Amino acid sequence: MSKKFLIAGNWKMNTLKEDSSKLVHEILSATENLQNSSVESLICPPFTHLSYLSEMIKDKKLNLGAQNCHYEESGAFTGEISPQMIRDLKCEYVIIGHSERRTIFGETDLIINKKLMAAVKTGLKVIFCIGETLDERDKDLTFKIIEKQISEGLQGYGADNLNQLVIAYEPVWAIGTGVVAKPEQAEEAHNFIRELLVKKFGNSGEEILILYGGSMKPDNAEELLMLTNVNGGLIGGASLKSDSFVSIIQTAYSLIN
Ligand code: PGA
Repeated sequence: MSKKFLIAGNWKMNTLKEDSSKLVHEILSATENLQNSSVESLICPPFTHLSYLSEMIKDKKLNLGAQNCHYEESGAFTGEISPQMIRDLKCEYVIIGHSERRTIFGETDLIINKKLMAAVKTGLKVIFCIGETLDERDKDLTFKIIEKQISEGLQGYGADNLNQLVIAYEPVWAIGTGVVAKPEQAEEAHNFIRELLVKKFGNSGEEILILYGGSMKPDNAEELLMLTNVNGGLIGGASLKSDSFVSIIQTAYSLIN
């Protein structure tokens, strides 16, 4: 099976309108000559930018996603955004269960599961984030945590819509810290996740993309993307500068060609 890559930028709560269009403009012009259907690139800006960026990237190879959603379709949920609203803006993806949502906003595996199932039902593709904290790694709980997050987060997910599911392994200790997982640490976790997916979904589990996230940068992207079960990156800091984001996209292309 040939390898596929998804290079996804998670902008978090960064950029104002002008910066965001400049960034997208730069990404589009630097990547317009890259061609290979095995590499997909994606940006996940703040909600407030989705509407006009959706217009800007219409008919381009760059995809658009949101960083979160609620699990209800509509109603009295002040301040929330539903999966249907995200779909309505022609977004293709939504990130669910990011560790910042888990730790800062108290999202549990149960809430994450409800969001994930609701998003998939609307036709959105989900980037489902999992990963252990430093304390959990130090206590040798990494595999246990990954197993729990997968089993609870994907509760009720059938084998039917697997092309809408992407996993992002993001060790919490590597997010925004500049500390990146060593290739052998990433490899061990990604291989374990692959085994769990195959156990749960049978052979189709082999095709689910597993992204690495946590301080991925141009200078470490190649060694991570080369690993067998690493199918791309979920990139925070380095996705906010067009040159570093584009460089990671180019690395993915170079590994395919
Ligand atoms: P980082 O963030 O690349 O800045 O570490 C990754 C993420 O949180 O998705």
